[in-house]
Amino acid sequence: MSLCKRRGFIFQSAEIYGGFRSTYDYGPLGVNMLRNVKDAWWRSTVQLRDDVVGLDAAILSPPAVWEASGHLANFTDPLVDCRSCHSRWRADKLTGPCPTCGSTDFTEAREFNLMFKTHAGPVEDEGAVAYLRPETAQGMFINFANVLQTTRKRPPFGIAQVGKSFRNEITPQNFVFRTREFEQMEMEFFVPPGESSTWHEYWIGERYRWYVELGMPEDRLRVRPHGPEELSHYSSATSDVEFLFPWGWDELEGIANRTDYDLRQHAAASGARLEYFDQGTGERYVPHVIEPAAGATRTMMAFLLAAYDEDEVGGEARTVLRLHHRLAPYQVAVLPLSKKETLEPMAREVLGLLQPHFMCDYDTTQSIGRRYRRFDEIGTPWCVTVDFQSLEDRAVTVRDRDSTEQVRVPVDGLLAELRSRAGTA
Ligand code: GAP
Repeated sequence: MSLCKRRGFIFQSAEIYGGFRSTYDYGPLGVNMLRNVKDAWWRSTVQLRDDVVGLDAAILSPPAVWEASGHLANFTDPLVDCRSCHSRWRADKLTGPCPTCGSTDFTEAREFNLMFKTHAGPVEDEGAVAYLRPETAQGMFINFANVLQTTRKRPPFGIAQVGKSFRNEITPQNFVFRTREFEQMEMEFFVPPGESSTWHEYWIGERYRWYVELGMPEDRLRVRPHGPEELSHYSSATSDVEFLFPWGWDELEGIANRTDYDLRQHAAASGARLEYFDQGTGERYVPHVIEPAAGATRTMMAFLLAAYDEDEVGGEARTVLRLHHRLAPYQVAVLPLSKKETLEPMAREVLGLLQPHFMCDYDTTQSIGRRYRRFDEIGTPWCVTVDFQSLEDRAVTVRDRDSTEQVRVPVDGLLAELRSRAGTA
């Protein structure tokens, strides 16, 4: 957390006013990394497939959506009050006495709805009630017919969305692990009813592999099926991908079999026909839905935790983030060896060569050793140094973050060299 603040990954929101509980702002490094997490997800879920399309639905939605989805009735957590200090807790997460005062005297648990309610327009009456979405998923269900008609996709196919969701969590905690405003990466995969179990297994495998391919160590990753008492109101089976956080195993993502629950609910409540008609066979059915639902902000935190390392280089301790190059806030740092003006034109030429292809930073301050350490600490995989010899031989030094190995590369071959290291040659 202190590295996140010190280096500009994540700041407490409204800090100059004392902070606003459970809200965070993503700084210059954090915004790059969060974008990279979302892009990596979009790339694997949408770009590299021909059976998933994207959507960006509204955050504000009318009560009818949440009535039909079951969220108004069921999206609740059990809330208890401590009778002694009046603090409030989630009953299902409370294992002992009141964490604030130590009392064991609690009220009976009552159901607390987690949705943020607001009013759309200037009149604050019941007819103007709107909700901030607590999941992006409903956007896909209420647009099912639109997407079907406009894309000519047919099951099995998916609709993916990345965006903000809001939950009035009773006890937000653990930095950005559980916050009231967060980002989700969700996909609803519509399948013929008889194929849902097979596709559920398929997506559990795909989603697990995504974390591993982005460098998550497998000894800190596991898949855990939910017990019957844990299942959400819409799910017939859910497995979580879990990460070993400092406080123990906890959820990164849930992969649920939502059956035909949502499409049937919205069809009944709206009168719209939410089904698939196969013109070839004349068959008509309501697809079942497999849903991988991940948290972007939570996942970014897990990638940071997994990447954090301390080692020794040349007898000196260093902090290094061993982030996958796709996730690192900067892929390349261009560093003129000294501040002398003679190096600047060539250093800027190298920067201009790389910027269209990589997120780059340019840094002239302090000694080259100090700069390498600073870029190790924020996970920059490659530093490119322009020195006085570069002016003679038009070659630069490329330094690798993990091995600290340095090699000389001609400027003409630099882009090809970095692309091949990044696996995008
Ligand atoms: N559409 C299904 C759904 O929303 P969920 O398990 O409630 O399922 C999916 O949420 C993911 O969203 C979680 O696995 C988690 O990564 C993220 N998430 C949920 N609540 C969160 C919160 N309060 N703060 C940060 N991330 C959250």
